[in-house]
Amino acid sequence: MRPKIICHMIASIDGRLLTDRWTPPVDGTDDAQLFAHYDAVAERFGADGWMAGRKSMEEYTGVPGRGTQAAGPIPRDIHVAERKGRAVGVALDPHGKIHYGGDNAHGDHVIAILGEDVSDDYLAELREDGVSYVFAGADGRDLPLALERLGQYFGLQTLILQGGGVVNGAFLQAGLIDEISVLVYPGIDGLAGVPSIFEYLGESHEKPASGKALRHLATETLAGGVVWLHYRVERVEG
Ligand SMILES: NC(=O)c1ccc[n+]([C@@H]2O[C@H](COP(=O)([O-])OP(=O)(O)OC[C@H]3O[C@@H](n4cnc5c(N)ncnc54)[C@H](OP(=O)(O)O)[C@@H]3O)[C@@H](O)[C@H]2O)c1
Repeated sequence: MRPKIICHMIASIDGRLLTDRWTPPVDGTDDAQLFAHYDAVAERFGADGWMAGRKSMEEYTGVPGRGTQAAGPIPRDIHVAERKGRAVGVALDPHGKIHYGGDNAHGDHVIAILGEDVSDDYLAELREDGVSYVFAGADGRDLPLALERLGQYFGLQTLILQGGGVVNGAFLQAGLIDEISVLVYPGIDGLAGVPSIFEYLGESHEKPASGKALRHLATETLAGGVVWLHYRVERVEG
């Protein structure tokens, strides 16, 4: 069974995601105190770990590659490395672009979701690093398959999807988001075109959220004027 997916994001009041562009807190509060709400709320979900798109994961954990060479061909089978009782950080990295330099994503065990055309050298590097990997179809973008395998082989029941907008959009379109949790930061971006919470890369006639509706679960005002919004995604006709 696939894990439950909670999309958990912090956005400016205009729904934008690039935190370094936001206006500062009004009273001189250190913005780190406001950003700390993100992890504190995430803790409440009791999740087995988190997932991020290739670009976001590269920002958090990427290091330069070290040119590992495989001793021979490596089969395209799931590789389950030593998790050592830790939570997981799952990278959606279809082309195998991220180098980790070890098994550590903010202290969590790394699982890479890959396409089958990644090189043997890359798989050898992940094995050396102690990173687990799963194939999500030939192009690495079969999200339902990836989630089924994460449930089956790693026993994951709940995962926090933490962006960016592009992978959030892909999960939304695929109907794979069960809950949405947004921390509204008391700041503004204001510029047209800056990425927002969902950035599905589709045609103008497509509606990636069609067939879904939001049931309100909770709203809380947190210290510093951050507002937490929590919704369940339900299926509807149309
Ligand atoms: N405020 C927040 O809460 C928050 C949270 C997260 C991130 N961010 C910010 O968002 C920015 C990055 O976000 P982003 O939206 O540009 O990138 P992203 O979602 O982090 O990564 C997008 C990449 O994921 C890969 N991918 C895997 N499966 C995919 C699928 N099914 N469909 C589409 N892509 C798939 C693709 O990699 P390939 O290109 O290799 O094919 C794609 O380019 C960063 O600046 C980060 O700081 C903000």
